[in-house]
Amino acid sequence: MANDAVVDKGRRRFLTATTAVVGGAGVVAAVIPFIKTWEPSAAAKSAGAPVEADISKIEPGQKVTFAWRGLPVFVVNRTKPQLDTLATVDSLLKDPKSENTDQQPDYAKNEYRSIKPEWLVVTGICTHLGCVPDFFPDLKPEPFDPNWKGGFYCPCHKSRYDMSGRVYDGVPAPANLQVPPYKFLDEKRIMIGVNPTEGAA
Ligand code: FES
Repeated sequence: MANDAVVDKGRRRFLTATTAVVGGAGVVAAVIPFIKTWEPSAAAKSAGAPVEADISKIEPGQKVTFAWRGLPVFVVNRTKPQLDTLATVDSLLKDPKSENTDQQPDYAKNEYRSIKPEWLVVTGICTHLGCVPDFFPDLKPEPFDPNWKGGFYCPCHKSRYDMSGRVYDGVPAPANLQVPPYKFLDEKRIMIGVNPTEGAA
């Protein structure tokens, strides 16, 4: 859904986009009140209905954020070098094997924390106090980590996560970023909010 997607945005841009979508829907309802079919869709979405996400335009190394249940959901098209770094940081993480079962469905409990290795889908909410982490995909020294291997950095209290959303040891965040339920509809679309075995789409 194009209106729910914002490419590579940080916290402020997410809030701006959400406000714009809500404001736009309000204007449409006031000016064209007879388009009733739009209203159930908007109400259902705010209540937590699944959200279809077009991932076909997300380039390798890029993150796009979609809105689901009022939360930002990061979808990242990980490159081979980014995937190759994952095993190299295991010893630096709090929960490298994703043993905290609250943080991902069973089908994402693997070395990539995903259904398909290249596609990471995580809720963009820091597990410390709920800020939206920033995306730093490049394998290069950053001010907050001279040995940075790519991932997410929360500016609120300096928590760091790798390219699978796994949290580093020694930071305030207690757990890995959450993987929401999702499934692939085809090569270009995922549905956020339902498990692969669920038919509702
Ligand atoms: S909210 Fe992210 S580190 Fe505190």
